[in-house]
Amino acid sequence: MNPINKHPLKLGVIGDPIAHSKSPVMHTAALRECSIPGSYSALHIQPDRLEAMIRTVREEEYRGINVTIPHKESVMELLDELGEDARRIGAVNTIVNEGGRLIGRNTDGIGYVRSLKEEAAAELEGRRIVVLGAGGAARGIIYALAAEAPDRILLLNRTPERAEKLAREWSDLADIAALPSERAAEALKTADIVINTTSVGMHPHLEGLPLDPALLRGSEIVSDLIYNPLETRLLRSARQQGCRTHGGLGMFVYQGAYAFEYWTGVQAPVGVMRRAVLASMNV
Ligand code: ATR
Repeated sequence: MNPINKHPLKLGVIGDPIAHSKSPVMHTAALRECSIPGSYSALHIQPDRLEAMIRTVREEEYRGINVTIPHKESVMELLDELGEDARRIGAVNTIVNEGGRLIGRNTDGIGYVRSLKEEAAAELEGRRIVVLGAGGAARGIIYALAAEAPDRILLLNRTPERAEKLAREWSDLADIAALPSERAAEALKTADIVINTTSVGMHPHLEGLPLDPALLRGSEIVSDLIYNPLETRLLRSARQQGCRTHGGLGMFVYQGAYAFEYWTGVQAPVGVMRRAVLASMNV
């Protein structure tokens, strides 16, 4: 039950587009599994309707909503409070309604790291991590990775200035440096973990490669935030070279798991959530 007003939990996700979101199927399965009365709906909200929607969230007593493209940044100024994670990442993917006060959080980064640790690399402390990309998705995961005390994080980006800016901004969090993508070979020589945060290789551009796989030594863990397809061309090549690989489905499941836990106070049934998403992908 909603800890605030004892009514069935009202939850949802806002985005534009939203029709293909797997969040409703995942959270509906989680609510059912935990016998929590409530519903989770997909809400197609265009940018000019965002402010009105946030008023509705407050007034109609939504316990919480997820926020996706294109609202993750613009929603921030409409909320009452931001968690440290959301403030520093500069994006909100989860809103928690605490009795009319809307609190913005970001569970993308911590969701990714929990998935990486559970599925591929139990320990991140002292690891040398290479991150491909320096956009919005990279910000969330780098912020969360920095909290794990890695040896260093190297950012490789097509536009080097963007990676340099990010490395400077977060120099207080970890040893972070930027290199232009032409220097990938140098960055990869000593990498333990390589993470693709770019959209290169995502459906429908299945042939895209964010990195020349010939640069891999076979001993790295290679991770891709993309979950459609479940195995990108990068992951396939890495696996064929002997690398341990980690796909993006776990990040999606765990960002949802953290959101579910904020809203309900109940431990998220991650296995059920993962199976619900997989079933809806017809795999
Ligand atoms: P997101 O929120 O998904 O991260 P974004 O903020 O637009 O989206 O960032 C996209 C990232 O993917 C960037 O690092 C981008 O590189 P640039 O900063 O050089 O634009 C990277 N990216 C996108 N398409 C790419 C491509 N075809 N080749 C290399 N990098 C690409």
